[in-house]
Amino acid sequence: MNKFVLILAGAALASCTSRPQQTAVYDVIPLPQSVSVDLGGEGFVLKPSAKIAYFGADTSMRRNAELLASYLEPLTGMRLEVVEAPAKGAITITDTLRSESPEAYRLVASADGIVIDGASAAGAFYGMQTLRKSIPAAMEADVLFPAVSIADAPRFPYRGVHFDCSRHFFPVDSVKEYIDILALHNVNHFHWHLTDDQGWRIEIKKYPLLTEKGSWRKGTVIGTDFSSNDSIPYGGYYTQDDAREIVRYAAERHITVVPEVDMPGHMQGALNAYPSMGCEGGPYEVWMRWGVSDQVLCAGNDSVYAFVDDVIDELCEIFPSEYFHIGGDECPKKKWKECEACQAKIRSLGLKSDSHSTAEQKLQTHFMTHAAEHLASKGRRAIGWDEIMEGGMTPGTVIMSWRGPKHAVTAARAGHDAILTPTAYCYFDYLQAPDSITDEQLLSYRTYLPVEKVYSLEPVDSTLTAEEARHILGAQCNLWCEYIPTLSYAEYKLLPRLAAMSEVQWTRPEKKDIDDFMRRLRQIVKTYDAEGYNYARFALDPAATADGK
Ligand code: ACM
Ligand code: ZN
Repeated sequence: MNKFVLILAGAALASCTSRPQQTAVYDVIPLPQSVSVDLGGEGFVLKPSAKIAYFGADTSMRRNAELLASYLEPLTGMRLEVVEAPAKGAITITDTLRSESPEAYRLVASADGIVIDGASAAGAFYGMQTLRKSIPAAMEADVLFPAVSIADAPRFPYRGVHFDCSRHFFPVDSVKEYIDILALHNVNHFHWHLTDDQGWRIEIKKYPLLTEKGSWRKGTVIGTDFSSNDSIPYGGYYTQDDAREIVRYAAERHITVVPEVDMPGHMQGALNAYPSMGCEGGPYEVWMRWGVSDQVLCAGNDSVYAFVDDVIDELCEIFPSEYFHIGGDECPKKKWKECEACQAKIRSLGLKSDSHSTAEQKLQTHFMTHAAEHLASKGRRAIGWDEIMEGGMTPGTVIMSWRGPKHAVTAARAGHDAILTPTAYCYFDYLQAPDSITDEQLLSYRTYLPVEKVYSLEPVDSTLTAEEARHILGAQCNLWCEYIPTLSYAEYKLLPRLAAMSEVQWTRPEKKDIDDFMRRLRQIVKTYDAEGYNYARFALDPAATADGK
């Protein structure tokens, strides 16, 4: 073969092996505080030979780097090698940024590489999420990252998503995938609703019947017809090792798991296991229908307070979170009014009805205060649903304002911290589809909550002073799962509304713009596609089917 033929053969080989290239677009959700694209600058081309290099002695930076490699693979077809920094032509992640916000990061792309510098490992992680979400389509291709400098930090320190794993039970792997979805949206608190009337789902070693008996119901109503029942036993629970595994998995993604034990109402699962804890002594069934049950813990029985302490003690060993949710919502007072022990407790505490509260509401405050003080003695802070203010406030407790934003305003004015989760904006069990009877409507509460409405939530009421506004810790969306039996349907309910919520939680209000958000939504769903997440397509395309299953 002569030299000329050899050159031709080499060129053909080169053209066969040259890879396609796509260009990153920094149209990400949540929108960073500042994105400066350097139009004259040369960008960085990410190729399979590039490395992900990490600085930082502790394992969380290495873990970050490994996660970034796993995030980039479905988007680019490349599995990049992870190495200790420094490395040339790399994506370098480090945690040396000085910032007032511990979750801040800077991302700089130039011809030499990409540097993500976080104020902490968590900050670097959010920079990684931005990088990942800037890749517009999943394809086997090199990626040109145009020269850019991004400076970012979250607006709120508490960015939560809730998951009801009592009404339906989701296996550990499903909970992990749910956490992955939260990580993609820069969420940092996972509120895990573990107990309710329809099933107690966390192992407590001192009270084995909670899971042996209290995690199983004999059947479930069919659809929304409360007179029906499928008679199919339904149950499941997380062992303490399962819960530890979830805590570890979430922590690697810089998410804190906030456990919720809902008390003193929503307790039929526990009452089935230990009927002496109810005002009437039982028997009680693990509830087979949805709604609010009159059967609650007896607040006049000292062994109930000891039970609460014991449960908190075991769970604090598993969940390192500063916050611990003690419920407090929807606790009817009917049984307490009829119960001799509860009435005796009211008398012994000297509780009297007044123009603000009934004696029974004050008894609930006494109950919640007991739990909150026990948590405080262990260095933890209680969160409660806003009903816990009805009988007078428990000092130090964070209010989760769900029956409208006004309870957050009341709490903040009184000097208490609050988290916004009002139903009209934050209840993702509500409908995504506007009309027409669809599978979603048959299996849902019927309130319509579109992406745009979620986006419009402003957590800080304009009447609050700057001092009061500091008590608004953030916002959270809730996924109650009465009508959500599968992870796929949970994903559909969450997405893309969580994208809107993430911008409420992260982005400064002056930068929010619904039209721009809807445009950027088209990009983040490409990441949903790459990860195989189910989402409500008609939020982008009204002609798409509203069936979420
Ligand atoms: C609630 O939705 N019951 C807090
Ligand atoms: Zn009682």
